[in-house]
Amino acid sequence: MKITRISPAMGAEVVGLDAASSNQDQVEDLRGHLHQHHVLVIRDQDLPHGAMQAFATKWGELLTHPSGMHPEFVHEQTLAGKGARGRGFSAWHSDMSWHPTPPAITLLHAREIPSFGGDTGFADQKLALESLDRARADRRRQFRKGLPGIEDLMSLKANHTGKGFGPEVPDSVHPVVRTHDETGDLTLYVNPEFTTHLVDLPEEESRRLLWPLWMHQTCMEFMYRHAWRPGDIVIWDNRYVLHTAILDYEEPRYMIRCTVKGPEPR
Ligand SMILES: [Fe+2]
Repeated sequence: MKITRISPAMGAEVVGLDAASSNQDQVEDLRGHLHQHHVLVIRDQDLPHGAMQAFATKWGELLTHPSGMHPEFVHEQTLAGKGARGRGFSAWHSDMSWHPTPPAITLLHAREIPSFGGDTGFADQKLALESLDRARADRRRQFRKGLPGIEDLMSLKANHTGKGFGPEVPDSVHPVVRTHDETGDLTLYVNPEFTTHLVDLPEEESRRLLWPLWMHQTCMEFMYRHAWRPGDIVIWDNRYVLHTAILDYEEPRYMIRCTVKGPEPR
């Protein structure tokens, strides 16, 4: 198994692994690489529904989506896009951050891919947090003047909502700076899709802090943009990265998705 970095911010490609026949030792090895690189790309795999579920289960207990939108552990999705002028707009998020125990890991396997478009963006939130104070010192960029510092964020909590998936989906409150339960790394854990407000702050103050944070955490410098090929399996750690599906594609796209249960964010 060979590991090669794929962007300055984060991410690595794994060469020489057959996911379908991988054993638990190999997955534990991969888990170590995931903790180091935050996103892993394995090319040229061929795992139908059952094989994908078996591979994902080696990473931990699988999680379903409470809205009924993804009722199975393994969610297969064929989307025919309408392109940049029709389908909608994506937003950066950490999967199901509104859940009391959001998924630690998401696995996505591309079965059928548009000839162009439909990339996925990843933004590293360890890097975003670490560079906060340096970004605040950049006085030329207007939005950065309003950025809070790390110290300001340490005691704050944010509300995340999944109401976009249905009225029965609960909100959750999580710390703005999260400690990774396996590595101890600190990451920024808000996102512009699901975070509604910072709790125990006046609305005005909450908005004043969140907007520049959302802008900062999705800077291109923290990003890896994955151009999918059929057969790719991409595995990401939701405690480390935000991601966004870029909805600019026009041809069908068929993906298999699994999410692995995580701990309560602390
Ligand atoms: Fe997602």
